[in-house]
Parts: sequence; structure tokens; C-alpha cells
Amino acid sequence: MSKVKYVIASDHAAIEMKSEIIEYIKELNLDIEDLGPFNKDRVDYPDYADKVCEKVQSDENTLGILICGTGIGMSIASNKHKGIRSALCSEPLSASFAKEHNDSNVICMGARTIGGELAKSIVKSWIDSSFQGGRHLDRVKKFRD
Ligand code: RB5
Repeated sequence: MSKVKYVIASDHAAIEMKSEIIEYIKELNLDIEDLGPFNKDRVDYPDYADKVCEKVQSDENTLGILICGTGIGMSIASNKHKGIRSALCSEPLSASFAKEHNDSNVICMGARTIGGELAKSIVKSWIDSSFQGGRHLDRVKKFRD
């Protein structure tokens, strides 16, 4: 399997947390692309969910990270895209299960609901986990296709 690449986007409410997560992922020596926004102007989170989802849909080795105020808007918007399994997480255990059981290819977080250190530990748990397949694949297939 090729090396996993990460793409990230936020809205204006989460631009600082986006920068923190980008720095963290770079410290882990992983490949991350920032899809914006690149200033604090007010934006609409679905537009940035679209950018991340399009990249994830086009390459199975690309995984997405989306952050808005609560993470709720990003999770709703991203889950409207075919092939996207997006998980809103506020603690690391859910993040690891989101990958292991649900094969999530996008993770969402809320910059107004959790702090930067917690966000990093959520991202680390998710990155370090792998889909377990088996009975979980049977379940994922029921909605994936
Ligand atoms: C923006 O004010 C806010 O609505 C957005 O960041 C997010 O929380 C939506 O779910």
C-alpha cells in the first residue's frame, strides 16, 4: 500500500486549530496538504468539506481532516459525499474505533468544543489505527455501496 497522505480544511472558526494540527502532522513526518481557508474571513464550511471530500474520493490513500466550530457542520456535509465515511470525534477512543470498525476516511473535530492538545491526541489515535475488516467490512458494505 502506498503511503497515506492527509488533506485538511476548516472554516474561519477553526483556522488556528487547523494550523496546530498541520504542525503536529508534520512533526510526525507525515504528508499533509492544507486546502484552506488561508485567512480568517468568514466562509461556509460545506465549501471546505467539498474540497477535502473530492481529494479523498479521488485517491484511496488520501484521508481527510475537517474542523469547524463544533465539527457538526463538517460531519454532516462530508457524509453527503459518496464514499466518504466521516466521523465526528471529541476523544481518542472514538477516533480509533472510527477507523477500526467504521473504516472512516475523514475525521471531524470542533475547535470550539475541544482544545488543541486533545485534538492532537484524537488525530494521533486515528492515524495509528487501521480498519479491522471481517464482520466490520460486512457492516460497512451495507451502506458503502
Ligand atoms: C460557524 O459560525 C459555525 O456555524 C461552524 O463553525 C460550525 O460550528 C458548524 O457546524
